Amino acid sequence: MTCSFLDGDHFTNGPGSLIPVSDAAGEIAAVGEGVTRFAVGDRVVNTFHTNWIGGRLPAAETLRGYGNAQDGQLAQYRAVSENALAALPESLTYEQGATLPCAAVTAWTARHAAEAGRRRAHPRHRRCLAVRPAAGEGARARVIATTSSAAKAAKLTGLGADTVIDYVETPEWGQAVLDATGGRGADRIVEVGGPGTFAQSLVAAGTHHAEIVLVGFVGTGGAPIGFMDLFRSGATVRKTWVGSREDTEVLVRRLAVRPIGPVIDSVHPFGDADAAFRHFAGRGNFGKVVIAAP
Ligand SMILES: NC(=O)c1ccc[n+]([C@@H]2O[C@H](COP(=O)([O-])OP(=O)(O)OC[C@H]3O[C@@H](n4cnc5c(N)ncnc54)[C@H](OP(=O)(O)O)[C@@H]3O)[C@@H](O)[C@H]2O)c1
Repeated sequence: MTCSFLDGDHFTNGPGSLIPVSDAAGEIAAVGEGVTRFAVGDRVVNTFHTNWIGGRLPAAETLRGYGNAQDGQLAQYRAVSENALAALPESLTYEQGATLPCAAVTAWTARHAAEAGRRRAHPRHRRCLAVRPAAGEGARARVIATTSSAAKAAKLTGLGADTVIDYVETPEWGQAVLDATGGRGADRIVEVGGPGTFAQSLVAAGTHHAEIVLVGFVGTGGAPIGFMDLFRSGATVRKTWVGSREDTEVLVRRLAVRPIGPVIDSVHPFGDADAAFRHFAGRGNFGKVVIAAP
């Protein structure tokens, strides 16, 4: 089994020293009685949520995170429900598969809103987490990303970002998004800063009924949200929480026929998993940090 991890939330142990790490890919080594979805030898990835098959997120699923509330994936063998797995096509390596359950599915649902049963056509501008899938679309979204790092800015441009804004040099980056879009603003904003960035996202949304997708909360200390600013924007605000098994399956199938290559920062041996954690904690990675099976 090969694993990758996303952020501090997903590799810290919860109470009782749980096995860390939320995402993995691997091969079915054995099946229990009554298993029908998979057979020995099948290639699979886990789903981020154990019991969310489709439709809306069951409330209890938010309390069952791998590595936080139940054992995670940093193991050679795991006994899991067949319902918490999705098939991994031959065209994707295990290392690539292990990058998908959280970050890639989140980027996908931030774009596609399957959970809410809604789809919006051709969003043209977005930022941050979803650069890779957005830039990989056929009728391509125009991508605006934020980073404080010149090195990351160059890599984001290499991945297909059309405009990269340094949010430290330009703290009013919402206005910079308006400027970059001829005053219109972004159509969809993937909001990963949360309290630290929402007010700027609202500026970036303009006044044309954009969508702001709430994903993360890495930012602190932003301005409070002004009700009249929200009203003027006409923006729809929606939360995403990774995605269901159905979302995972759709994304994986899509990648199989139109591979856009998950960005892998580094692959570390299973026996030296500590090095992977230390590397990640140093915040120097760009893309997913993977721990390979022995
Ligand atoms: N809801 C969900 O389903 C879900 C799923 C996955 C992750 N998350 C959450 O999403 C968040 C982001 O995760 P990630 O892995 O995408 O993080 P990441 O790779 O560090 O990306 C965050 C991006 O936002 C930028 N940024 C940080 N602070 C900013 C600010 N004040 N203003 C503007 N841009 C800012 C970062 O710039 P720098 O390059 O300068 O750091 C970086 O480009 C975390 O809170 C995570 O827990 C939520």
